[in-house]
Amino acid sequence: MIQNKPLPASEYRRRRRQLMRMMGPGSIAILPTSRLAVRNRDVHHPFRPDSDFYYLTGFAEDDAVAVLIPGRKHAEYILFCQERDPKREQWEGARAGQEGARKQHGADDAFPIADLDEILPRMLEQTDRVYYAMGCDPELDRRMSSWVSQVRQKARAGVSAPFEFIALDHYLHDMRLYKSRSEIAIMRRAARISSRAHKRLMRHCRPGMMEYELEAEFIHECITSGARAQAYPAIVGGGANACVLHYVDNDQALRDGDLVLVDAGCELDCHASDITRTFPVNGHFTKEQCALYQLVLDAQLAAIEQVQPGKHWNAPHEAAVRVLTRGLVKLGLLKGQVAKLIRDGAYKRFYMHRTGHWLGLDVHDVGDYKIDGEWRILEPGMVLTVEPGLYIAPGEKGVAKKWQGIGIRIEDDVAVTKSGPNVLSKDAPKTIEDIEALME
Ligand code: GLY
Ligand code: MN
Ligand code: MN
Repeated sequence: MIQNKPLPASEYRRRRRQLMRMMGPGSIAILPTSRLAVRNRDVHHPFRPDSDFYYLTGFAEDDAVAVLIPGRKHAEYILFCQERDPKREQWEGARAGQEGARKQHGADDAFPIADLDEILPRMLEQTDRVYYAMGCDPELDRRMSSWVSQVRQKARAGVSAPFEFIALDHYLHDMRLYKSRSEIAIMRRAARISSRAHKRLMRHCRPGMMEYELEAEFIHECITSGARAQAYPAIVGGGANACVLHYVDNDQALRDGDLVLVDAGCELDCHASDITRTFPVNGHFTKEQCALYQLVLDAQLAAIEQVQPGKHWNAPHEAAVRVLTRGLVKLGLLKGQVAKLIRDGAYKRFYMHRTGHWLGLDVHDVGDYKIDGEWRILEPGMVLTVEPGLYIAPGEKGVAKKWQGIGIRIEDDVAVTKSGPNVLSKDAPKTIEDIEALME
């Protein structure tokens, strides 16, 4: 029995308070959740709340809008959501309704979502500043501009319309970059489930299996652990398919003697994990695979070492590039002086992506990487991936045949802590010895 506890209501309350403190009196924030997306005809994709909306509310129903009005006497946090409807609920499942929004979800007040057009213009009256993420929901953008013009039309009656519109995402995304202790605990749990799932598919892997069979083993372990959603579509690439960075067909047979790259991570309470492991289909690395794999692993360990408070965002990438370029010269895959090859970006022929990204509610999480043109300094509470790789496509000119068709990436989820890097995904084996022992 697996207990996956969602974040406590107090955490969402703390975040709303923090945002409202930054907004100050005389302001209003308006945040819609995502829209239910049609998959085909009358079938929908599973609903996933908008990350910004969920970050502040923890409310997972569709068709909802959250409003924050700091300093408002009657209610500061107002949730517009669907009304209870026994007939619809018999088909679609229970709704919180307005009473549930207040009693279970911490809203100070709640209204039916159908009343949004009537109530929101009144809330905009007498507010100076509107915090809103323009351009994310075109339909709400249109309604927003009609609400504002309604308020403007009342100017002669002494009603003042807001005169400042501020991008809410700028503030919110900076908050989301710093994870609390309970948030990191959830992310660690997500990474643990994904690590177990990677181990499971390594154990099951045999030559002749299909790539999607490994994907199935991964998803099986996640769902039986209570993580029903994947943070992104799994990449399972055998042999040269690993050189296609966003390969998601996952429909080829796995060949004896090839490596297979698996980039997969579950989502838990809307928190992402993002892990890549590369291993031999038959459980044993060849000499060439060993050489390239060890090089990527050395680059990854050097990069993880740079995940320290006070280092800048690009330090892990620079460390990985140094190790990879040096190694590629040693193996004869690059020729020339290491420093010049790095300056010229010669390594990009085999390593064409960056070494990581922020991780959180979104797999490519929000938050600026540069501030005033300078790389951001790493601070405790930030979580990022570290994922160097090497990709030597078949037919790569001037490269010995023995290296061709090998694609390797090793990716971990790492939290910045006062005492250095904390690898949340450390349960997934990655040394050559550990992988071969597990697959024995
Ligand atoms: N799985 C997506 C990434 O590694 O960025
Ligand atoms: Mn990643
Ligand atoms: Mn990944």
